[in-house]
Amino acid sequence: MTYTINMDELLKINSDAQYLINETDDPKELDLIKQDFLGKKGTLTIAMKAIAGLPEDIRPEVGRLANEIKQDLEKKIEEKKQTQKDAKKNVSDSIKNESKTTISSSSTIDVTQPADFKSQPPLGHLHLVTQAIAEITSIFEKIGFARVRYPEVEWDYYAFEALNFPENHPARDDWETFFIKAAKDPKLGPMILTPHTSSGQIREMEQNKPPIRMLNIAKCYRRQSDVSHTPMFHQFEGLVVAENISITHLKGVLDYFVKSYFGENRISRIRPYQFQFTEPSFEVDVSCGVCNGRGCRLCKEGWLEMGGAGIVHPNVLKYCKIDSKKYSGFAFGWGVERVLMMKEGLELDDLRMLYSSNLDFLKQF
Ligand code: PHE
Repeated sequence: MTYTINMDELLKINSDAQYLINETDDPKELDLIKQDFLGKKGTLTIAMKAIAGLPEDIRPEVGRLANEIKQDLEKKIEEKKQTQKDAKKNVSDSIKNESKTTISSSSTIDVTQPADFKSQPPLGHLHLVTQAIAEITSIFEKIGFARVRYPEVEWDYYAFEALNFPENHPARDDWETFFIKAAKDPKLGPMILTPHTSSGQIREMEQNKPPIRMLNIAKCYRRQSDVSHTPMFHQFEGLVVAENISITHLKGVLDYFVKSYFGENRISRIRPYQFQFTEPSFEVDVSCGVCNGRGCRLCKEGWLEMGGAGIVHPNVLKYCKIDSKKYSGFAFGWGVERVLMMKEGLELDDLRMLYSSNLDFLKQF
């Protein structure tokens, strides 16, 4: 295939080069950039050679743009090198003079300069977790779950009390809660950072009567930080309340999610567990994508743990004034970062990387 060139490609070469020039202060690196773009085998040089093969009607215009870009890049690189030299000189002068005046900064920005329309600013993209939230939302929307949001700063009542955790119950310890220094509310108790999205169950049921089909996705906070935990993380919580809701409905939704999010060949399983606000309670596992459930180094026994689920406890319905004889429901709550890590092909060995603001890492996704 012969190499052809057009205006868009030239602009792309230009914005790549401009970006690299802007990013560095090192004269040696500037020389390398010059070589990569303008040298004998440089990207722009090769592109310019290809211009000769273009049809006559567009050749002059493309040629003119290429020349402009070339001149501009040469100028920018030289200017940047000069700025570096000046900055160094200023620094050494000011050290020599022992003057207390401000040292000139190494990168100068003249805000009165007209905008440079040829160089395009580097484009960003949505954060990995935001992308995951959008994908999860759309999977559940297809089966009628409406996305809701409930407060991050929450009352003890919603996160614990109404979820059937009596005051001082030891099960509360598992939620490693952050408390806010604020006056207790006589009815709602201490103010906290919500440690799970289950608080949204109570808020949803207080406001709406069945049938309910909600998806609450929110930031949660717990006092934990290691390779698989960050003090702030996200959960997505599903709640369905209606007449005759049973475990089979829950299992159907789990399988649907697992196949939609992880892939057609993955399946879910539920194991008995204990939560205060569901009875019976389960822990949900997903078959391992690496070994297909046979067992491997990653999963050991073929399954990866995804999170909790269960049938809404009658006491919880009572707290929300819903008739537990007439209605029943199921709920599930999982970590967004956790399902993201479990997604096939994504080997994140430290979850904290997600929030490290390390652009080299984040740009990959
Ligand atoms: N809130 C529980 C947790 O944070 C998960 C859960 C949600 C369990 C809904 C059962 C039902 O671990």
